[in-house]
Amino acid sequence: MIKYFFKANLVSIVLTAIVALGFPGLAPRAGAQQKGVDAEGHAWWQHAVFYEIYPRSFADSNNDGIGDLKGITTKLDYLKELGVNAIWITPCFPSPQVDFGYDVSDYQAIDPMYGTMEDFDRLVAEGKKRDIRVILDFVVNHTSDQHQWFIDSKSSKTSAHRDWYIWRDGKGPGPPPNNWLSTFGTAAWTFDSKTGQYYYHYFYPQQPDLNWRNAAVEKAMMDVTRFWYKRGVAGFRLDAVDTLYEDPNLTDNPVLPGTDKFGRPNMDEKYNKKLPEVHGAMRKLRTTADEYGSVLIGETWTSNVDQLKDYYGANNDELQMPMDLMMTGFKGLSADEYRKHIAAVNAAGHWPVYVITNHDIVRSYTRYADGTHNDDIAKMVAALYLTLRGSAIMYYGEEIGMENNDPKSKDDVQDPIGKLGWPQEKGRDGERTPMQWNHGANAGFSVAKPWLPVPASAMAHNVADEMKDPDSVLSFYRKLLALRHTEAALLDGDYVSLNEENPNVLTYLRRYKGEAVLVILNMSAAEQRAPLDLSATGFSAPKLEVLLTSFHKQVKGMFAVLPMEPYSVFIAKITK
Ligand code: GLC
Ligand code: CA
Repeated sequence: MIKYFFKANLVSIVLTAIVALGFPGLAPRAGAQQKGVDAEGHAWWQHAVFYEIYPRSFADSNNDGIGDLKGITTKLDYLKELGVNAIWITPCFPSPQVDFGYDVSDYQAIDPMYGTMEDFDRLVAEGKKRDIRVILDFVVNHTSDQHQWFIDSKSSKTSAHRDWYIWRDGKGPGPPPNNWLSTFGTAAWTFDSKTGQYYYHYFYPQQPDLNWRNAAVEKAMMDVTRFWYKRGVAGFRLDAVDTLYEDPNLTDNPVLPGTDKFGRPNMDEKYNKKLPEVHGAMRKLRTTADEYGSVLIGETWTSNVDQLKDYYGANNDELQMPMDLMMTGFKGLSADEYRKHIAAVNAAGHWPVYVITNHDIVRSYTRYADGTHNDDIAKMVAALYLTLRGSAIMYYGEEIGMENNDPKSKDDVQDPIGKLGWPQEKGRDGERTPMQWNHGANAGFSVAKPWLPVPASAMAHNVADEMKDPDSVLSFYRKLLALRHTEAALLDGDYVSLNEENPNVLTYLRRYKGEAVLVILNMSAAEQRAPLDLSATGFSAPKLEVLLTSFHKQVKGMFAVLPMEPYSVFIAKITK
């Protein structure tokens, strides 16, 4: 046990043992998970650690080189021990896989590549035994062009499903209805010669946009959610919600200066994104979710906290967990930038959902590695997003320090946007590579050649080896998540920002009743000094007990200011 005593503004650091190497049980605090709402009024999803799984890449049970549901089930014990409470599985429904599952051809079945409905039910049941809930990914904006609805829609201008999608005449004989562009590098309109009209797609041409203005579409989509809730699903991650509605007049988007990564003119997507009608749809999805005590997580791309605020709903009646993806756009690691953002989020008054990365974004290890302190940086980033107030969402492999393995040549690319945008846009394969389970062949993911290659760094960064190493990124995550589940202040405490003038060190207290957890993060490559004066926060003579650090050297002695190694983490419990 490392104990710190405050005396005349000096802290005495006494090392008596090493803390937190055992992993305390992850049982939820009384009532927190089982009943949905705890004594503080917090729902299960507020305390939960969510873990995103890209099913193609997690674990391959039948050795065809592609991960599957049975594979996920075999890893539930690993997830349980890690401290995960819910898994979000990216789309595992039947799909031609043009966008690797985000082109759904049947919302109420499992793609044979991933297994059967029985496999799915078993995954849910096995999850339940371990208090791990299952969240599915609901692609609300579009279907596959191979979905029966679209096949019928396309068949004639008078078909039953014609108005389920967005069909329009071109502007005269040649040009499309307007200047909107697909975010995936093509035109947003594809001409269909059979009926002589264009259909709209914000993503690939194989992903036609549904017409949410049609009540039948809305009803069909609500029914999909009920189908899965009845099977025990605990909620949905709603894909691309910003793109649900378009201006019915098809007004041209304003053209901006410059070109995008596909070489097309930049556009202000004013008329085909973030239309206010989206809130009506969110409210309806929420009403259904509430019937089942389920949670809605949103893929909500926003450029500021005000925009994000809207997705919670004016009466907290839309998404419980709109993802705050703004940190993924921060350049480098600036304590100031994080401090300002966290302050703005807290001032907005909602339950935060900070996201560091996902299957569309370069892995955090690759984004921040400096070649010298790579693992320290990974630990520091982990401490940041797992000790802040709010629900936590992890991406598979972040806990072992996986890095991007981007394609080396255009021929290796699987993600169509990488083929189209090469070399400027390499696509998203790099962040979707197989989970690294051990240092053996294919990182233990599969006996067969995996659908994407494993990077050489799997030799050092893999579950089996990191489990044995108390200083590994994985061991750090395990300790951190254990703390998150046992320290009331990390779950329910408020957030008090300290030492705000320091541009390199982010310091905060999570304060709960008479105690608190102090978090100090050195976000720089140089050693920094962090003052330990907590007198302004209601702790005039605090006792300080170290919970977790990433220090390489032990600190011992009397301190008014704590020396912080480069990119290090210091977490301590404060009591009066
Ligand atoms: C979301 C998904 C992404 C997918 C796109 C189209 O952005 O996260 O992977 O390609 O929607 O469905
Ligand atoms: Ca749409």
